[in-house]
Amino acid sequence: MIDRDRLATLHRDEEARFTDLHPRSAVYAKDADGPLLAGVPMPWMTRWPGSFPLTFDTAVGARLTDVDGLEYVDLCLGDTGAMTGHALPQVADAIADRARTGITTMLPSTDSTWAAEELARRFGVPSWQFALSATDANRFVLRYARHLTGRPRIAVYDWCYHGTVDETFAILDGDRVVPRPGSMGPQADVAITTAVLPFNDADALDRRLAEGDVACLLMEPALTNIGIVLPEPGYLDAVREITRRHGVLLIIDETHTLCAGPGGCTAAWDLDPDFVVVGKAIGGGVPAAAYGMTQAVADQLMGPMALPEIDVAGVGGTLTANALSLTAVRATLSTCLRQEEFDVAIPLAERFTEGVANVIADHGLPWHVQRLGCRAEYWFCPPPRDGAAAAAAVDEPLEAFLHLWALNRGILLTPFHNMALFSPQHTKEDVDLHTEVFGAAIAALTGSAG
Ligand SMILES: Cc1ncc(COP(=O)(O)O)c(C=O)c1O
Repeated sequence: MIDRDRLATLHRDEEARFTDLHPRSAVYAKDADGPLLAGVPMPWMTRWPGSFPLTFDTAVGARLTDVDGLEYVDLCLGDTGAMTGHALPQVADAIADRARTGITTMLPSTDSTWAAEELARRFGVPSWQFALSATDANRFVLRYARHLTGRPRIAVYDWCYHGTVDETFAILDGDRVVPRPGSMGPQADVAITTAVLPFNDADALDRRLAEGDVACLLMEPALTNIGIVLPEPGYLDAVREITRRHGVLLIIDETHTLCAGPGGCTAAWDLDPDFVVVGKAIGGGVPAAAYGMTQAVADQLMGPMALPEIDVAGVGGTLTANALSLTAVRATLSTCLRQEEFDVAIPLAERFTEGVANVIADHGLPWHVQRLGCRAEYWFCPPPRDGAAAAAAVDEPLEAFLHLWALNRGILLTPFHNMALFSPQHTKEDVDLHTEVFGAAIAALTGSAG
């Protein structure tokens, strides 16, 4: 369908345009090459389109400006970390006050209880703890789950992503559990630590959990990290029934699916998990995450919490639940990510979805665009049922071109997602700019416009 020679030529033109547009970013990138491994402070930043990463100057609301003075509509929003929009004044003021009055003491601060009560109200589980990232929160919950059940293995979905949690970097190869391609220096053979399941297949879940060695199922209620794969009707009810019947704890990771509303899919779809994990956006950009649990789980954990060895239990950390994180969570959740903000952001995502779907249909492409709340993503296949079907449609060169084309025309997309995330700071004009730019890219690719 896509002419690969044409794609390669167009990509070369866009690379040249990118280099011309960003002389100052080029200087920063050159200076970084040496002091920083691969010229970046974090490995994923090598994935940005263009032959070097942009260096950003400011990010405010839904706009990002780079060191060359170019402005972008930010549809990446820090890959969900800035889902509220960037640099919100009320969050900035609260953070600045806290910075002047003490950031980290290892004591509870005056915001901890407020934050826990608000999370309980939103997600419906009563007892909460904090972490600095969703990765950490997931790691801690997996430990609790193994402790509580006395079972060694965890279960995840094929092609899931839950952060840099060793046991979760596993996929299915036929019936075998193997490391996910790209996973570096696995700490243990994932075939020993992990059961991997196809999404939307209740029978496979039932069969695997019946073996009795799985402590917990860690899941997103809709997969969001291999495009968006929605659960089929009745599937999540079946998951709850099957996990409960086999004594397997159900952990719902709402880190991305918070896009569905103030209490994520757990509230929107009336789910009934044993643990909820949420990270990224809840700190308004400051590192913060949280995990909540039912009263039944909390009651069982009171014993270990009272032990003198709790500081070496493998849960928590020196800066975990520091006062700055919790102030940021309170300032964010008291003023953002509420129903009134979703009421603005979700219609923008609907408009995006409609615009992209029209372009796809106009060009007769076998692609689709999927939406969950204020998040939307296009993918190069019809709607897949599971992660493996979605993974089979990954097209790196096509994705890299579309991202670079968009970047060169003032739109920032997350490098490893074809995702657009909307905050109340975005406008209809932002959406329409993307639709126009996306339409022009597809026209250029398919040769249907000059
Ligand atoms: C569903 C989910 N859980 C957890 C994480 C980990 O978040 P972090 O990288 O902030 O630790 C991610 C990151 O993308 C995620 O998508």
